[in-house]
Amino acid sequence: MAIRNILRDTDERLRKKSRPVEQFDGRLAELLGDMADTMHRADGVGLAAPQVGILRRAVVIDIGEGVIEMVNPEILWKSDELLDEAEGCLSSPGEYGMVKRPKKVRAAYFDRSGNRCEIEGEGLLARAICHETDHLNGILFKDLASEMLDPEEQG
Ligand code: NI
Repeated sequence: MAIRNILRDTDERLRKKSRPVEQFDGRLAELLGDMADTMHRADGVGLAAPQVGILRRAVVIDIGEGVIEMVNPEILWKSDELLDEAEGCLSSPGEYGMVKRPKKVRAAYFDRSGNRCEIEGEGLLARAICHETDHLNGILFKDLASEMLDPEEQG
């Protein structure tokens, strides 16, 4: 396991569309392990492979209930009900903005061994799934934020 460098939001690699993972091999396992370590070290709740410079469709999420590794994730369903909450990104340290996200989502993905899985998430988990999946399509939370928060008003 190793800590990888997290790209800043000005890096143009974060604007690319990532390609699907095709090989469920040791390199993928190493990448996912490194991503989880990197996310935890940075106190984040999610990290996408392009944020460490790997343009492949893989993300890790940990909202405090253990690491979820999602390979080739696809959102299958989003609730009509939205939540408008503050959101940040490890590629934009210290910056937060208000983003409307579905309250609940259901997503399909593959685990590191290539098994197809489904997950339903609500609240922060739904938000993280949407945010990290957006990264795979070159979308950053700042693109969606209705307003950025004044850093001096944050605790
Ligand atoms: Ni992010």
